[in-house]
Amino acid sequence: MHVLITGGSSGIGAATALAYAKTGARVTITYNTGADRAAEIVKRIEAEGGAAAAVHLDLEDHATIGPAVAQAGPVDALVANAVRWGTIMPGSIAFEDVPAAEWTAVLHANVAGNALLVQAVLPEMRRKGFGRIVLVSSGIAEEGVPGPGPYGTAKAALHGMARALAWEAGRDGILVNVAVAGLTLTDGPRHIPQDVLDRLAARTPSRRLSTAEDMAALIVFLGSAANHNVTGEIIRDGSNAGRSAHAQ
Ligand SMILES: NC(=O)c1ccc[n+]([C@@H]2O[C@H](COP(=O)([O-])OP(=O)(O)OC[C@H]3O[C@@H](n4cnc5c(N)ncnc54)[C@H](OP(=O)(O)O)[C@@H]3O)[C@@H](O)[C@H]2O)c1
Repeated sequence: MHVLITGGSSGIGAATALAYAKTGARVTITYNTGADRAAEIVKRIEAEGGAAAAVHLDLEDHATIGPAVAQAGPVDALVANAVRWGTIMPGSIAFEDVPAAEWTAVLHANVAGNALLVQAVLPEMRRKGFGRIVLVSSGIAEEGVPGPGPYGTAKAALHGMARALAWEAGRDGILVNVAVAGLTLTDGPRHIPQDVLDRLAARTPSRRLSTAEDMAALIVFLGSAANHNVTGEIIRDGSNAGRSAHAQ
């Protein structure tokens, strides 16, 4: 099994690469600015006896997508995890103040970029009659928070993309799902005060926030042969803060 994981140079993508490698899969990770961090992940996998490679991919620069996929070679699974972050802090910007350039950049990279990425891997998956695609999304796409308009909009677009693709590619043995992360304890949220993290954890069903490894386990299942026929689903990790009346 050969898996292409975008944004494998840090956070959830790096944890996913390490988790896939433990299953015996060969992984190719992509990086944008983090060539050194990506090389570290490749080294860690190789040190544990696995096979890995890193290639450059910039979702904002669509000309890099085809060459990155060509360099990776034929893949059995794609994890579209990389993200071009826009403004994501809730309440940090009024909707009407989001610059047009941010709308353009975030949608160009995260929607069009991921669509082109899927286009690039599909023909080979169809030829083989096997493929797994996991698009990584955010609870912000569904819950909506004030402020991060472009980011939430772009992530919600991935849900529509997965539903369409599941119907489109299912007959060729290709299963497509969305893995929805809630607040996940990667480097990103390190600046969030502990009392805020504790409050968010208390609003989840299992009363804890997920780690990158927790998300990786979900992604690896959806994006492997162990997933026999789950497709077109939007699957929420337990780290998503609940809206249930039971949340406290
Ligand atoms: N962490 C959370 O709390 C959380 C919550 C909800 C959803 N998510 C989603 O989970 C995924 C991973 O998040 P994370 O927290 O692990 O993020 P992260 O640590 O910030 O990693 C982001 C990855 O995306 C890559 N990247 C950034 N800009 C890119 C671009 N223009 N083109 C291609 N790659 C680019 C980065 O590469 P370089 O570092 O090499 O530049 C990095 O590998 C994202 O899709 C994110 O939206 C995360």
